[in-house]
Amino acid sequence: ASGDEKELRAPICCILGHVDAGKTKLLDCIRGTHVQEREAGGITQQIGATYLPAENIRDRTSLKAETAIKVPGLLVIDTPGHESFSKMRSRGLSMCDVAVVVVDIMKGLEKQTVESLHLLRRHNVSFIVALNKVDRLYGWKECTNAPIVEALKKQSDDVKREYKWRLTKVVTDFKENGFNTAPYYENNKKKKVVNIVPTSAESGEGVPDLLLLLVRWLPDIITDKLAYDDTVECTVLEVNEHKDLGTTVDVVLINGVLRQGDQVIVCTKQGPVTTIIRDLLTPHPMKELKAKGAYKHHKEVRAAQGVKIVARGLQYAMAGTSLIVVKPGDDLRQAEAAAMQE
Ligand code: GTP
Ligand code: NA
Ligand code: MG
Repeated sequence: ASGDEKELRAPICCILGHVDAGKTKLLDCIRGTHVQEREAGGITQQIGATYLPAENIRDRTSLKAETAIKVPGLLVIDTPGHESFSKMRSRGLSMCDVAVVVVDIMKGLEKQTVESLHLLRRHNVSFIVALNKVDRLYGWKECTNAPIVEALKKQSDDVKREYKWRLTKVVTDFKENGFNTAPYYENNKKKKVVNIVPTSAESGEGVPDLLLLLVRWLPDIITDKLAYDDTVECTVLEVNEHKDLGTTVDVVLINGVLRQGDQVIVCTKQGPVTTIIRDLLTPHPMKELKAKGAYKHHKEVRAAQGVKIVARGLQYAMAGTSLIVVKPGDDLRQAEAAAMQE
C-alpha cells in the first residue's frame, strides 16, 4: 500500500430484520457456530458482536490470495428482531457503518423489517438486503456454500419461477417503502440501488456473495467513515457477572485504542464512575462476544472490536452509554460532566 493511503478500521455491520428472519443463523453459518440453537425460545435478546478477520472472510469467498482486502476485517453486530427490543435495534444501528437487512423470502417484508427501514433512512446508513431462506423454495436443490448465481442455475424451472415471483414481490414492497432494490448480480447502479443477495443460512448458498459485497464493494463507498481515528469512541452493551473475572462490561470499540491501565469513565444512574481498566478480553475471532466461551487477553485493543472490560465499579454502567477514556492532562471533573451529558 502507498504511504498516503489512509488506514482503515474494520467496518461495523449491523444485522437487522424481523424476528426469525434468520439473522443469528446467518451469522452461525458464516462463523461455523451454533449460537442460534442455544438461544432461549430461539429468540435473540441481547446485542451480539463478532469479529470476522479478513483472512477468514477470504476463505469463505472466491477471492484469490493476491486480491487485496482493504479492511482488516468486519465487526458484525447481531440484533434482536422481536418487537419489544426496538431500543437495542436503534442502539445497534447507531454504532454501525453499514447494515444487512435480513428478509425471509417466504414471508417478504414484515413489521420489524419496515421499522428497520425507517431507522436506516433516519440514520442515513447504507445497507444490503439478505433475502434469506431460499432453501425453503419448494424443490430447492441444495448447493452448499455456492455463489448464488451458480446455485440458481442448478434449480428446476419451477423453483426458478417461484424465486422470480417472490423476488419481484419483495422488490415491489421495498419500492412502496421508498427504496429501489435489485438482485446484486443484475445491479449495475450499486451506489444508488440497494443490493439484494439471496441467501440460505441453512446450506450457505449466497453467503460468499454477501461477504464479498461487504469487504470489496462496501469499503469503496464509505471510505471516509472507515478512516481510523485515535479518538476513542466506545459504547457499552451490557454488564456481566463472570465467575472468575468479577464484574465485566461488554463494549463495542468503534474507534481508537483501549489499553490496560487506562482511566475510564462510565455512566450510571447515580452519576459518573471513574475506574481503571484491569484487563481487556476479546472472544476468539469468529466467536460471539456474549457467548460464554474462552477469551484472549490483551494489553491493548484497536477499533473496531467487541471487547470485554474488567475493572472495579462497573456494575451499574448503563447499556447504550459511552465509555470515556481520560487522557493525561484531562480535567477529571470536566470529563465526568461531559460523560454524563450525553
Ligand atoms: P431473532 O433474533 O429472534 O429476531 O431471530 P433471527 O432473525 O436471528 O432468526 P434465527 O436465526 O433465530 O432463525 C429463526 C429460525 O429460522 C430458526 O429455526 C432457524 O433455524 C431458521 N432459519 C434461519 N435461516 C434459515 C434458512 O436460511 N433456511 C432455513 N430453512 N431455515 C432458516
Ligand atoms: Na429467532
Ligand atoms: Mg437472532
